[in-house]
Amino acid sequence: MRIKWTRNTAAVAALLSALCLSTNANAATEDSGKTRIEPRNSQFAQSHIEQYKTWEATKESEEIDDALAGDPNMVIMWAGYGFSKDYNKARGHFYAITDVRQTLRTGGPKDAKSGPMPMACWSCKSPDVARVIDERGEDGYFEGKWARLGAEINNPIGCSDCHNTASEDFAQGKPALTLTRPYVDRAMETIGMKFEDQSRFDQQAQVCGQCHVEYYFTGPKKSVKFPWDKGTTVDEMEVYYDEIEFKDWTHKVSKAPMLKAQHPGYETWREGIHGKNNVTCIDCHMPKVQNEDGKVFTDHKIGNPFDRFEDTCAQCHTQDKETLKSVVDSRKASVQEMKLRAEKQIVAAHFEAKAAWDAGATEEEMKPILMDIRHAQWRWDYAIASHGVHMHAPEVALRVLGTALDKATDARTKVVRLLATKGIMEEIQIPDISTKEKAQQALGMDMDKMNADKAEFLKTVAPEWNKQAEVREASY
Ligand code: HEC
Ligand code: HEC
Ligand code: HEC
Ligand code: HEC
Repeated sequence: MRIKWTRNTAAVAALLSALCLSTNANAATEDSGKTRIEPRNSQFAQSHIEQYKTWEATKESEEIDDALAGDPNMVIMWAGYGFSKDYNKARGHFYAITDVRQTLRTGGPKDAKSGPMPMACWSCKSPDVARVIDERGEDGYFEGKWARLGAEINNPIGCSDCHNTASEDFAQGKPALTLTRPYVDRAMETIGMKFEDQSRFDQQAQVCGQCHVEYYFTGPKKSVKFPWDKGTTVDEMEVYYDEIEFKDWTHKVSKAPMLKAQHPGYETWREGIHGKNNVTCIDCHMPKVQNEDGKVFTDHKIGNPFDRFEDTCAQCHTQDKETLKSVVDSRKASVQEMKLRAEKQIVAAHFEAKAAWDAGATEEEMKPILMDIRHAQWRWDYAIASHGVHMHAPEVALRVLGTALDKATDARTKVVRLLATKGIMEEIQIPDISTKEKAQQALGMDMDKMNADKAEFLKTVAPEWNKQAEVREASY
């Protein structure tokens, strides 16, 4: 592979010298005299025009892609857990609040105390999270249900998620990158990556690693923690979760103690060829570009880097777009193929485990089978929930999916033997799960009720939150 490994040093230097002075209109002051973290992205529309305009352009990625309709196996794999209700692929940062309100996973809360999800579900959606933690502390943020602070968390992912927007440096047009959640600081320290001590490039990736990571909810207040105490690979996190006997939920079909991987993109990127060469998320997703006056700035329209190949891949690679795109596409196809192969085995294992329970198997007999299912699905999820993994670290995805397949076959071998001891020799039938609707029906899920509750919430509660937020922000 021929590489022109320059990382556009000239452009970066030009940027740093061309930083214009502007007054700091952003640092608002609270009654207490303390500087409030500014959650409103529009407050930076005048002072940081290019960054604001390109950030706002993330709204052009508006397509909603129903992942369960595309692959109904996942309804079964997440049976008994929110993700079997609905799961859309990621779209632009601009929609983070809209989407977390709209998903059936957050249900239709009627007041501050109801609703299925904890406060932690807001954590990667908004700079208001940084603000509220700053004002009330982590406990004051995390306690209670998701609906408790619905009127407080209302601005989508933006400036104050990645920048110290109250700093003089930021006012002068410098990045002033920062981690905005204390639990991220702690996690980064755990893996020897204390933010303040890192290089500029490491810090760039770390700001994305605030959200594009694996995490879980822990303790009485259900606060966020990254399971990184033993390391960030799939094996290390699996050992961590097993040792603390953590489970996200009990599977509705097999009764296995399950783990739900979130989106360990930062972890898998680190293991891939670009991560190892310190080519960061920013090199591909936020390239340096020029405005009409030739001023260099960071493009904040985070999306697919192939949409602006000349500013991204072509900064380092000499191949043309078609060549690199076809490499990535073929890796995507391989990952997709292994994903489906692993799913087929895991889905079968869930139903076979159910048949064994039905035939009178004991907890003791089921335990090793259920642990294999847990591990198989955790591995499958770690690979596929790392969005873009076929680009970031395809060899990691393929290895992890290979181990998922292996664990699922272990589970099936054991459960088939167990079934035989109960006199069941014939193949266990799997219900019709050929569409999302049929799979949800097979699990007895009342989708009509969930949809009605959500519609009611969006009609009554959500507009009330908007009104309260407007009143509060008017006082800033
Ligand atoms: C998801 C994280 C993220 C968000 C959200 C974000 N930025 Fe940035 N911003 C970055 C990164 C990364 C850089 C580049 C840092 C570097 O070059 O080392 C940057 C650079 C900047 C710079 C330095 C000048 C430049 O263009 O490189 C300014 C000013 C800036 N951003 C303003 C904003 C404003 C205003 C918003 C909100 C409208 C915003 N940013 C939202 C991550 C973010
Ligand atoms: C505060 C949390 C947070 C931070 C910080 C963050 N993201 Fe995201 N990102 C999200 C969420 C949530 C979504 C999905 C939004 C949706 O679908 O409503 C997302 C979506 C995306 C997407 C999909 C966009 C599309 O159009 O399909 C990309 C790419 C992405 N993020 C990259 C990055 C990069 C690169 C960084 C660092 C510069 C970053 N993100 C920082 C939370 C975050
Ligand atoms: C070497 C370039 C490169 C680096 C480095 C990189 N990405 Fe990506 N990323 C891509 C490309 C290209 C795609 C789209 C792949 C495709 O079109 O199939 C992508 C896809 C994604 C997606 C999925 C978007 C979607 O809608 O499915 C997310 C999220 C994402 N990247 C986040 C990150 C984060 C976070 C980092 C750093 C931890 C990172 N990327 C580092 C090139 C990169
Ligand atoms: C900042 C520089 C930089 C950028 C930007 C960049 N790459 Fe790379 N890329 C590298 C380096 C360095 C390597 C490792 C080369 C080596 O070790 O031979 C690499 C390796 C690769 C490889 C071969 C590695 C493998 O897995 O076999 C592919 C394919 C690739 N890059 C695709 C892309 C694509 C697609 C983009 C844009 C989305 C991109 N790169 C953006 C620097 C970059």
